[in-house]
Amino acid sequence: MVSQLSEAVLDVIADALVDKGYILLSDIIPDNVSLALIEKMQAKQNIEFKSAAIGRGSEQQVNTQIRSDKISWLDKQDVIDNQYLSIMEQLKNGLNRRLFMGLFDYESHYAVYQPGAYYQKHLDALKGSQNRILTTVFFLNPNWQAENGGQLVIYDEDDSVITTVQPELGTLAIFLSERFPHEVLPTLVPRNSIAGWFRVSHANHGF
Ligand code: OGA
Ligand code: MN
Repeated sequence: MVSQLSEAVLDVIADALVDKGYILLSDIIPDNVSLALIEKMQAKQNIEFKSAAIGRGSEQQVNTQIRSDKISWLDKQDVIDNQYLSIMEQLKNGLNRRLFMGLFDYESHYAVYQPGAYYQKHLDALKGSQNRILTTVFFLNPNWQAENGGQLVIYDEDDSVITTVQPELGTLAIFLSERFPHEVLPTLVPRNSIAGWFRVSHANHGF
């Protein structure tokens, strides 16, 4: 069964992106989908995690000073991954209809932050690069305790903290990739998330 994002929820998200450039949501991904994603992450034999790299193309390198999570890319062909990806597809279409964002594709990875892991403050897209436009982070940790660390801290353009997000199961953060520096504070216990990015097609930009 394909879960549907309501028009009302899409309106709320679109309005928030126009007004503030970000939104935090809970309860838009159905519990049965979240639980299947958690189970998949926990069934380590089904999913192979690699040290995450930074940079793009030939510039890519693993730098554990900056980030020390382990990742695995979602795949449309996988039945469970596709439940999440099809909701993101609805989000893409809903935002394109409302805001003419020209979002074209979506790439996303599972990330495991083992105890001690973090991701230092960074931007997901270089200003003006028009590659990653909109970031999503979905959290998969039931009963997260604040003392576990592992919060996602989102900063404003002037580096003041806008919000500190507990990586609690069911929370989805959505923000403009070029605008908001953010970081993952060191976690004390294993922390699971799915980070993803909507991109525009370079075909629309003279390449
Ligand atoms: C990223 C990122 C945050 C998270 O992968 O770029 O910022 O909470 N992830 O997984
Ligand atoms: Mn990021």
